[in-house]
Amino acid sequence: MKLLRRKGITQLQAEAKSDQSLKRTLGALNLTTLGIGAIVGAGIFVLTGQAAAKYAGPGIIFSFVLAGMASGFAGLCYAEFAAMIPISGSAYTYGYATLGELIAWIIGWDLILEYLFAASTVAVGWSGYVVSFLKDMGIVIPVAFTSAPYNHVTSPDAGWNLWRLFAEGWSSTGAVLNVPAMVIVGIITFLLVLGIKESASFNNIIVAIKLAVIITFVAVGIAYINMKNWQPFVPPAEGPGQFGWGGVLRGAGVIFFAYIGFDAVSTAAQEAKDAQRTMPIGILTSLAICTVLYIAVSLILTGIVKYTQLNVPDPIAVAIDSLGSQLKWLRPIIKIGAIAGLSSVILVMMLGQPRIFYSMSKDGLLPPIFSAVHPRFRTPWLATILTGSVAMVIAGLFPIGLLGELVSIGTLLAFVIVSAGVFVLRFTDPRIHRPFRVPMFWLVSPLGVLMGGWLMYGLPPDTWARLIVWLVIGLVIYFSYGRFHSKLNQKQEQSEVVLSVGK
Ligand code: ALA
Repeated sequence: MKLLRRKGITQLQAEAKSDQSLKRTLGALNLTTLGIGAIVGAGIFVLTGQAAAKYAGPGIIFSFVLAGMASGFAGLCYAEFAAMIPISGSAYTYGYATLGELIAWIIGWDLILEYLFAASTVAVGWSGYVVSFLKDMGIVIPVAFTSAPYNHVTSPDAGWNLWRLFAEGWSSTGAVLNVPAMVIVGIITFLLVLGIKESASFNNIIVAIKLAVIITFVAVGIAYINMKNWQPFVPPAEGPGQFGWGGVLRGAGVIFFAYIGFDAVSTAAQEAKDAQRTMPIGILTSLAICTVLYIAVSLILTGIVKYTQLNVPDPIAVAIDSLGSQLKWLRPIIKIGAIAGLSSVILVMMLGQPRIFYSMSKDGLLPPIFSAVHPRFRTPWLATILTGSVAMVIAGLFPIGLLGELVSIGTLLAFVIVSAGVFVLRFTDPRIHRPFRVPMFWLVSPLGVLMGGWLMYGLPPDTWARLIVWLVIGLVIYFSYGRFHSKLNQKQEQSEVVLSVGK
């Protein structure tokens, strides 16, 4: 059955060894900072406060623990795959090795929702912080050029009617384009075309700045915690998903966005030195560091300000403001940290997307242009420019909320499939060399599937509608192009010709 044809693990491992077109320059430290660079962004700087104010109160800490657990299970599964098959396609390649070509294509197509759309989402958040920072400096950019021209509000009576969910509820905001969001995507595209080592050094500096800012916030804030703000720690339920334990669960779905990105480390596998060792270190260390930081930040945030005041785009800056005028100096520093933090998320996401295109194109599922490597910079430059151009248009046109949920559902689908893939491969190819093994895989992989599925289930119907439409478009492309150009197809046909000639 052609749709279920798989790439053999040994073939993939051989490809990883023989394909030298991308440079292997990243060590464990660079991979860990790459992970932190991708993870700490709009989730902690923007969404934490909103999720605490609307759904969970100080109980947002439990939301972080739950979403962290879901990410941890998936992270272990990613680590097993990334060490075993260190090539750049991430979940797409893992899917090809375990669940067959059709599922691999679906994941590859779905990952565009994660990487490309996350770059756009975070660029919109970046724009918000930059505009606010410039305003503090006395520079005002007209709102028509700093926000999305379109908005979308789901029609309340649309139910699960996919067409209505998808097509109805759009309105014009009167704005022209989100220009700063487009500019940052353009700058980062340029950097990425120049080279991964240069991009990684830039990322290291940014990560150092954002970690310094977060640690300063925690260190300064701890002295100002007012225990009264934590009472009640989990506010009583006010409706479905609003406070109480239901709100904690809903909050977990929202702040899941904050954890997205550790998996981006695996897309740089083909540029990692000693990938079998450094991949698991990069993925798991970055995830562990961010989980600790998130829990610390959310404890301090809800400890120094009453959660009801946190429904703002810059909750951490608001918390600092509440501490009185002697700490005013921290406000611009927090904003600079957030701007730096958001920049590196965009960078890593836009680093990941072309590398997935690269792998899909090498396999024949996308046209060869997607795997063109620049002769001098040795980067997949055309795929990078294409990614940057599309991300730029999306960032200029759409609001952050709509994009963010789409990113979450796309990522969760990839997590579910990767977790399932680890489980399947333990039975189909038990003897393959696994430099890193998921501990208690019989428990961890199913938990990865269940928790990912459960967080997806919590996302609203309009987000599901967009996911389904996106996947249908992907299937049309696969059945009209990829299926016929697949390298595995060509190999199969060649062997069929050889067989018939031999007869
Ligand atoms: N985890 C990333 C962020 O929070 C996507 O911005």
